[in-house]
Amino acid sequence: MLQHLPLSTILLLPAALAAVLSKPEPLPLVIWHGLGDNYDADGLKSVGDLAKDVNPGTYVYNIRLDEDPGTDQRYTFFGNLTDQIAQVCSDLSSHPILSTAPAINALGFSQGGQFLRGYIERCNAPPVSSLVTFGSQHLGISKYQHCDDGDWLCRGWQALLNGNTWSGYAQSHLVPAQYFRSTDDATGEATDEYLENSNFLADVNNERESKNETYAKNIASLDRFVMYLFEDDTTVIPKESGWFAYTNSSSGEVTPLRNLTIYKEDWIGLKKLDEKGGLVFKKTEGGHMTLGDKVLTEVFETYFAPPKSVWEGVKDTIQEIIEL
Ligand SMILES: *[C@@H]1O[C@H](CO)[C@@H](O)[C@H](O)[C@H]1NC(C)=O
Ligand SMILES: *[C@@H]1O[C@H](CO)[C@@H](O)[C@H](O)[C@H]1NC(C)=O
Ligand SMILES: *[C@@H]1O[C@H](CO)[C@@H](O)[C@H](O)[C@H]1NC(C)=O
Ligand SMILES: *[C@@H]1O[C@H](CO)[C@@H](O)[C@H](O)[C@H]1NC(C)=O
Repeated sequence: MLQHLPLSTILLLPAALAAVLSKPEPLPLVIWHGLGDNYDADGLKSVGDLAKDVNPGTYVYNIRLDEDPGTDQRYTFFGNLTDQIAQVCSDLSSHPILSTAPAINALGFSQGGQFLRGYIERCNAPPVSSLVTFGSQHLGISKYQHCDDGDWLCRGWQALLNGNTWSGYAQSHLVPAQYFRSTDDATGEATDEYLENSNFLADVNNERESKNETYAKNIASLDRFVMYLFEDDTTVIPKESGWFAYTNSSSGEVTPLRNLTIYKEDWIGLKKLDEKGGLVFKKTEGGHMTLGDKVLTEVFETYFAPPKSVWEGVKDTIQEIIEL
């Protein structure tokens, strides 16, 4: 039969066959670490190694604000988030590998999760396909975390904060202050001082009168936004912020995201994303950032795996037919 085919087709066959059989490449993965951590830490390296084990060929980039790990760590406490996110936008869009990828996946640990959301809303170049966050503070914090005795960076910034979250100094220099969110327990509404002064969260959550439509468009353009909540998180107050939920701090009553105005009026595109099945709420055991290989493997297999090759798709279909 081959002799009836033109020579050019025969020459193309191996390439075509290879295209059918080959597994598509996984998208690059960017990881943004949490407060007090740094991009070069061993824990983060093992997360990257696991990502490559599960999806061979994954290019992993740990987001950093400085090449010096100690300085990078300091910037998790100190700095202006507007500038920090702009710097990450510029780093990713000029990165030789990331900037040429059709899209990237993003994994955010704790505060790194809402900062990646900021990247998506404000820049998204290269665009994110799936965003997965662990124990993040999407609807802010209502209390600052407790600092351990020997944690001088943590104690240092809390001393500088001096209880004054809404000062210009705190909002331009102290990172966690920029995602602090104060609410009126009686009404459940955000306070005026938050709306007026919050340098980061009130803006990326489009809580002010004038909304940025790009923010909503970019979130709605995601394939998936997966939020993991730690069941026994006592570091993030309230922990339900990891699911974008509101907690009444007097009664402890939790209002889920889908009942909040930010969702109902779709200020940032979460409703649109939800309607196409892209918004996922997941729970995992343990306290803040108790991450095991099991849950990370689940994330890499479920959300960051490349699409199946044509041949694998055909095999699955044949399998399903046989099972019928
Ligand atoms: C909305 O956000 C985009 C992306 O950051 C920015 O370019 C634009 O200027 C913003 N628009 C307004 C009205 O602030
Ligand atoms: C943070 O940086 C941005 C951009 O440089 C600047 O416009 C803004 O005023 C700063 N924020 C505060 C609260 O100082
Ligand atoms: C929050 O809880 C307090 C105390 O139970 C209650 O009085 C208040 O109405 C609640 N706020 C909202 C918005 O439900
Ligand atoms: C959320 O909204 C649903 C449907 O509108 C309602 O049945 C439910 O009671 C609400 N839950 C809370 C906690 O507000």
